[in-house]
Amino acid sequence: MNLTTSLPISFDYPQQNATGTTCIAQAWAKTPYPMAEKEKSVVIKRIKQLLIEKDATLVAHYYVDGDIQDLAMETGGYVADSLEMARFGKNHSAQNLIVAGVRFMGETAKILSPEKRVFMPDLDATCSLDLGCDAADFASFRAAYPDRVVVVYANTSAAVKAQADWMVTSSCALAIVHQLKLEGKKILWAPDRHLGRYIQEQTGADMLLWNGACIVHDEFKAVELQLLKAEHPHAMVLVHPESPQAVVDLADVVGSTSAMIKAVVEGSATEFIVATDNGILHRMRQLAPHKILIEAPTAGNSATCKSCAHCPWMAMNGLQGILGCLENSSGEILVPEPTRLKALSCIERMLDFTKNHPDLLAKAQHGFVKNIGAA
Ligand code: 13P
Ligand code: SF4
Repeated sequence: MNLTTSLPISFDYPQQNATGTTCIAQAWAKTPYPMAEKEKSVVIKRIKQLLIEKDATLVAHYYVDGDIQDLAMETGGYVADSLEMARFGKNHSAQNLIVAGVRFMGETAKILSPEKRVFMPDLDATCSLDLGCDAADFASFRAAYPDRVVVVYANTSAAVKAQADWMVTSSCALAIVHQLKLEGKKILWAPDRHLGRYIQEQTGADMLLWNGACIVHDEFKAVELQLLKAEHPHAMVLVHPESPQAVVDLADVVGSTSAMIKAVVEGSATEFIVATDNGILHRMRQLAPHKILIEAPTAGNSATCKSCAHCPWMAMNGLQGILGCLENSSGEILVPEPTRLKALSCIERMLDFTKNHPDLLAKAQHGFVKNIGAA
């Protein structure tokens, strides 16, 4: 097997620690204050009214605040993983989309629906993977390997997608890369090194990996997880593939946010250890109220917070921000037309593939489930 495992060290992302750290602190500083119940119900009522008046719909990711997830579901919007968010926004008839999530999700919606206006509660809500993959650095990386098919994760800027052949999300990355490998393609992958390594291991594809990481999933600790597993021997371990290899190796199910929710709802186990952003527990509890959900550890015994996996940028999404989108048209996402046109084809290619090959997707998803017996 011809595996290319060397990392493009010269294209590492040293700027992430500097930029990323500042941005993390800034993001936490911008987390909306929790509202008093009375104020909250007034704001929610007003948002519901305006969504109708302004022909708008709310699409939210599983990691945002539970009140926002509920609002999306109650108003005919959607709560989903990044693949389904993109699909829902594109297919919905509303003229205005409000995307509660992080910037790449809003940009993807705009790229797919230029005729719609797309808004976000806070335009500064970004992602460490996006921050760690500068478009100009990525262009140099690409230029050094012209013989490779360029596959980028959804968690990138429009300017990076504009340079890609394929966009993938964690729901479909395995199926798409597997297909590319069958076609004899060599792959240049960016930016998540953990997801890239996992896909490489599962498919045996020849992949050259950018060296990015998610600051939330990178924090899960294998040693602590092992101890937790010993305390809960019947618990099924669910891990998002943005996590480090040692954590993924302990999983019963490795999959996207929607795959993890499906595992909780459909699995016969009663206890689940969940290694992803803790915002997902809201939906899991709603859909499977009798299951016991345990957050996977992000720190050792001496730490004050043993499990604090929450994305600082997802946390920036608040009800006031949504109200601002509707009342003042604040937070509008704009993508320059030449960039949008270039980025469009890699996203459409992914949407076409997932629509035309549900069988391959299901098969790949099955591959994610390492211990079916526990399900
Ligand atoms: P999903 O596509 O699995 O929802 O993941 C998005 C993400 O940002 C995970 O950190
Ligand atoms: Fe990005 Fe990680 Fe936040 Fe997901 S959880 S949006 S990958 S920083």
